[in-house]
Amino acid sequence: MFTLGIETSCDETAAAVLQDDKVLSNIVSSQIQIHQKYGGVVPELASRAHIENLLPVIREALHEASVGIDDIGLVAVTYAPGLIGALLVGVSAAKAIAYARDIPFVGVHHGEGHILAAHIEYPDIGYPYIALLASGGHTALYHVRDFGKYELLGQTRDDAAGEAFDKVAKLLQLEYPGGPIIDRLAKGGNPDAITFPRAKREGYDFSFSGLKTAVRNHVALFTSKDAGIEPELKIKDVAASFQAAVVEVLVEKTIKAALEHDVHKIVVAGGVAANSSLRNIMKEKADEKGIKLYLPGMGLCIDNAAMIGLAGYLHYQRGETSGLDLNPRASMAL
Ligand code: KG4
Ligand code: ZN
Repeated sequence: MFTLGIETSCDETAAAVLQDDKVLSNIVSSQIQIHQKYGGVVPELASRAHIENLLPVIREALHEASVGIDDIGLVAVTYAPGLIGALLVGVSAAKAIAYARDIPFVGVHHGEGHILAAHIEYPDIGYPYIALLASGGHTALYHVRDFGKYELLGQTRDDAAGEAFDKVAKLLQLEYPGGPIIDRLAKGGNPDAITFPRAKREGYDFSFSGLKTAVRNHVALFTSKDAGIEPELKIKDVAASFQAAVVEVLVEKTIKAALEHDVHKIVVAGGVAANSSLRNIMKEKADEKGIKLYLPGMGLCIDNAAMIGLAGYLHYQRGETSGLDLNPRASMAL
């Protein structure tokens, strides 16, 4: 069966075609250039861009998969959580296609999609595993016992990890999104140059707002009213030291969760999973403990519709579909 996956929860308009659980096409149209001059995603602009981009992106996904719309037997769409106007565009399109073609449709939780992205690259991964979901909107640890069984172990009490990257980039007057830029700058900096705080929340919870404030205070020492950021501020060192603080906490808690639950597999998902230092250090620490690490390729870490298509297909296989009265929701626990 062919599934059309649709993802419009934030600033990527994405469509994918799957044949059963195999991805045939995975098209992502980023709106970064629209939002960049505002230093973050502007919800109303995102919704409008989704309206303009979605049909061309769906057509491209069908074309690349060499599949016609008549061949599609299931539509899967992100319906929560995300920007409500942005979600509405994808959900409305999915409903319209499903209704017009008289085929089933499935609403998918965005976080579930991110976690299942690992199964696209590693079909034999199996359960259980510990999943670290770290993106612009979420930072959470799950004990994934089986498909559909996500036990939340802990989550951020304030900013998401990706949000912290984006906010720190803004403090450093870098462009949006900050994650990839900080990742690149950090490669030329010293991670031990500045000791930023590691927020040690109890259990498996995270907190990144104190770290962001510490970076702001550090940057303020090198900022003057007239000249702005002074050249004495070593931006690469700030990037590397900030990144080290985030990565250390993410890695430590994820490994701890695996050991304490006697689970020997870890999946890292979400946009922050694209971070090169997180990838390297998580691998090093997992190897030390004999834990197998599953890191989806960059294209499956960032928002995409292949992961939504797969999640939808797996739900459909279990007889779980959504009614046409399904409404998108801005926030929803997995
Ligand atoms: O999963 P995603 O595409 O969208 C959400 O669901 O939020 O994640 C986007 C987030 C942004 O905050 C972005 O700065 C961050 O992922 N990100 C990174 C990197 N690439 C993307 N953070 C750190 N290092 C990266 N290389
Ligand atoms: Zn996402």
